[in-house]
Amino acid sequence: MHLTCPGSRYGTGFPAWRLPGGAPMNAIELLVEQHKKVAKALETMCKADRVDPAMLRQIGDELVAHMVIEEHVFYPRIRELLEDMTAESFEEHAVARFELARAMIADGEHQKARLTVLKELIEHHVEEEEKEMFPKVRSKLSMDELDQLGTKMKAMFEKAVEMGLDQLVQGQGDLGKVGASKRTSGTRRVQGNASRRGMTASSSR
Ligand SMILES: [Fe+2]
Ligand SMILES: [Fe+2]
Repeated sequence: MHLTCPGSRYGTGFPAWRLPGGAPMNAIELLVEQHKKVAKALETMCKADRVDPAMLRQIGDELVAHMVIEEHVFYPRIRELLEDMTAESFEEHAVARFELARAMIADGEHQKARLTVLKELIEHHVEEEEKEMFPKVRSKLSMDELDQLGTKMKAMFEKAVEMGLDQLVQGQGDLGKVGASKRTSGTRRVQGNASRRGMTASSSR
């Protein structure tokens, strides 16, 4: 599986966004809210006797969309303020995408093991963001700018979720054309894509 997003060369090459109306959303509050949702879903799936494929698909879409908005909006702005603050974060996103892909093409005990590793990766990453990165960002950016970033990221997130992780991670996505293609649900589509493309996240051990 390709582990990059379309245009995700550290914030360059991404299409311009047309933002819908609506109340401003503080960037950090938005990201923390999304962290909580992903953490809760991973916890549920790790504890369940059987992983619900629809839940995994939904949280996979949201996790990748979350990483997309950080990579294209939030991190580039942080780099302008706090050099070297995001290099490790980009790498952790890449590893999380990889483990998510491995979880989605597995089942049974192997899938549980991969989800557990993904959960631990995410917990570590979120802790660094919330305890180290976000407080520094808060001290550097005005509330107005945090609201502007949050509003932009919320709009991008919704489009990215609608597009789905397949398009986002395979580099086929044009977020300006969201809704142009019909989506299917469940993990079967990912499994098919994976086998056709010879994904490196092999389910065999
Ligand atoms: Fe995050
Ligand atoms: Fe992140």
